[in-house]
Amino acid sequence: MVKILYRWQFPVMKSRVLITLPLPTAALDALKQQFDVQIWDQGPMPKLQIAQRAKTTDAILCSLGTSITSDLIRSNPQLRTISSISVGVDHIDMAAATAASLPIGHTPDVLVDSTADLALALMLAATRRIVEADRFVREGHWSADWTTDFFLGTDLSRATIGIVGLGPTGLAVVKRVRAFGAKVIGWNRTEREVPGVRNVALDDLFAEADIVSVHTAAAPETHHLVSANRLALMKPGAVIINTARGSVIDESALIVALSKGKIRAGLDVYEQEPLAKDSPLLALDNVVLMPHLGSATAATRQAMMERACANLIAGLDGKPLPWCANPEVYAGG
Ligand code: DGY
Repeated sequence: MVKILYRWQFPVMKSRVLITLPLPTAALDALKQQFDVQIWDQGPMPKLQIAQRAKTTDAILCSLGTSITSDLIRSNPQLRTISSISVGVDHIDMAAATAASLPIGHTPDVLVDSTADLALALMLAATRRIVEADRFVREGHWSADWTTDFFLGTDLSRATIGIVGLGPTGLAVVKRVRAFGAKVIGWNRTEREVPGVRNVALDDLFAEADIVSVHTAAAPETHHLVSANRLALMKPGAVIINTARGSVIDESALIVALSKGKIRAGLDVYEQEPLAKDSPLLALDNVVLMPHLGSATAATRQAMMERACANLIAGLDGKPLPWCANPEVYAGG
């Protein structure tokens, strides 16, 4: 006898999701209830593993450490979305994704304040030599009497601060440094009027600023925007801060400038991440190094995950992603 199955009796196929990084248990459990999840939680996911597992997935949830190449996109036409737990999407071949009409999700806005706070922390750490002084105390060198030239630094209130990139994070830094009483000069790829900020040419910004803070996104046009020539324009004792992307600064040229002792730096991002174990930066006292922690607060990471999950769910439902990095994929649709 043939048993008739009604439509609602067919097993519902769950969409398949490949997650390329460890997630907090609560977030992972919620995703497992809705999707057929494969997770890679053993450190950076090797390219070969991504290539193999991508074949059997409908969507990828990833972050900065997973490189999504044009090859991967082209060889997986079944992918319905890629959702990155990051605002930056420079780890994804965006041209290939858009050509394949593949929506890419990202997490703008929610990490602006955390990143701006970290830029300020690096400015204060570099100008007041906090890490150097901490090391000095821990290593037991604090034996001499207090002297008038002991670990001298510079004041934010007396500084001219140059903001490279007047997007949301650059503006959040402007707000903070103005509260310290600093003078602010700025440069943006497309000129932008900002109250309290004097726009200057990029070379003039490097020549005039006591502190330069970099907030421009990684793009072919911003690659090595901070070149050896621009670093050479900086005043003796000036400080450069980078919480944007490593590729914006020519890191070899920065290492040369720092090695000469002419400038100081505070870095959260590097041309190669993780920073190579033999990077000359590690041996320099006049640079404060952070391991890409701009967005690393519990509340901000939670907000980023919520946006990334909302993007993932919308993409798998065939709906427009609420935070889409390539909205042109919906044009005409
Ligand atoms: C991002 O989301 O792009 C940040 O760099 C992570 O902190």
